[in-house]
Amino acid sequence: MANPFDMVLFGGGGDLALRKLIPALYRAHREGSLAEGCRILPVCRRQEDADNYLETAQQALKTHLRDGEYNDNCWREFSELLRAVALDISVPDEQWDSLTDVLGSDSERVRIFYLAIPPAVFGPCCENLSLKGLIHENSRVVVEKPLGYNARTSDEINGKIATYFPEQNIFRIDHYLGKETVQNLLALRFSNVLFEHLWDAKTIDHIQISISETVGLEGRAGFYDETGALRDMVQNHLLQLLCLIAMESPNSMSAKNIRAEKIKVLEALRPLVGEAVDQNIVRGQYVAGGLGTQLVPGYLEELEAARSSTETFVAIRAHIDNWRWAGVPFYLRTGKRMEKRCAEIVIQYKCVSHRVYDESAGEVIPNRLVIRLQPEESIKLVLMAKKMDSLTMELQPAELNLTLSDTYDSFRSDAYKRLMLDVAENNPALFIHRDEVAAAWAWVDPIINHWRDTGNQPHLYRAGSWGPQAASELLARDGRHWFNAQ
Ligand code: BG6
Repeated sequence: MANPFDMVLFGGGGDLALRKLIPALYRAHREGSLAEGCRILPVCRRQEDADNYLETAQQALKTHLRDGEYNDNCWREFSELLRAVALDISVPDEQWDSLTDVLGSDSERVRIFYLAIPPAVFGPCCENLSLKGLIHENSRVVVEKPLGYNARTSDEINGKIATYFPEQNIFRIDHYLGKETVQNLLALRFSNVLFEHLWDAKTIDHIQISISETVGLEGRAGFYDETGALRDMVQNHLLQLLCLIAMESPNSMSAKNIRAEKIKVLEALRPLVGEAVDQNIVRGQYVAGGLGTQLVPGYLEELEAARSSTETFVAIRAHIDNWRWAGVPFYLRTGKRMEKRCAEIVIQYKCVSHRVYDESAGEVIPNRLVIRLQPEESIKLVLMAKKMDSLTMELQPAELNLTLSDTYDSFRSDAYKRLMLDVAENNPALFIHRDEVAAAWAWVDPIINHWRDTGNQPHLYRAGSWGPQAASELLARDGRHWFNAQ
């Protein structure tokens, strides 16, 4: 367990803090992972919000915790760790004194500044922390996407933070890296002799990484329309997953080694520039449709705009130009308002090299390893087996299935909890280095520039479907199809 720390939550009354961070800290407290003496200091802009913070936080917990997680006793204990502060972060006036008073002058004590605020105010916030003498060698800062809008703006943001904090004290969160199964992916690859020899172009036909969501804009219309699916999901979450699947074995699980391997993958991604963008990427935008029995409006209706060429869906055929992955396509796909919520990685193996059974045994389906991150977290291996009770030799697919939530009774994963505890313990292995952010933007920027320069318009797809027809055609051209979550 980490030593007691102070966590200052800038943007304490905002959506991220109330929906994710406060529940994650409550869970950490409930399972006994917060050392005695930890303090959580949510920062609100208005005094009134700070005064009412306990009620707001309690209500947020009741809304966002899973069934059975909230209880009054635990809340009472947890609420004693919370001490809200009212402060306008962009103005270095005497309001900061209240924060300075609470934090005190103990420079040994770990201080975590969580910037759950728009990136435009990262700079002023860090500058004021510095002016007020609140940054010491045990101070860490946590930031989250959107870290910029392109390579240039991202570099500016990272540059500002770097003026006040050394790189080893900057924790850039990608919450997908905190998901239990993502870490299991590393355990699977690097702690089993079974897979590592079967993890390259010799045995793997292709890889699919899909994150499908059923939600639409969720009140973030302005932000989303400026951003689009490529920046919102691919530049970060999907590319991070791709790195973990494709990277070479690090010498150890130190942050330095893992990051070095991830950067090599990003740098080996074949650039998609000019016509290659149109040949390898499909953009989509949803129109009105149905999710189950619920009718949902289209993107433009949600946006209340007559037109927009922002993509709410994107499907990409990518290649990693290195020895291990030569010729293996990586198909990436993500979208809003799709038929099912699911995040899944499918490793599709090649067919057996020689068929020994005659036709009557039936089709020999290539092996498939399916790593599901959500809604439930599971790892499934599809194998061929003999059909039980059949007198003749008939083959059928059989599944080796490890559903983590079934296997472990108390399994309660929370990516933010895990990542916040890692910050407290000064373990940056699951956080992103500045160079990774830059390498990811270097791949994404030319794609966006091409769309802008050619006036590319997204294909339309019905809300509640698996995306535009053109995305299926992208794979069909290679003689393949998407594995849609069941
Ligand atoms: C965020 C995106 O980073 O990830 C959102 O900005 C998206 O648009 C969310 O909905 C998905 O995260 P999760 O964990 O719910 O799959």
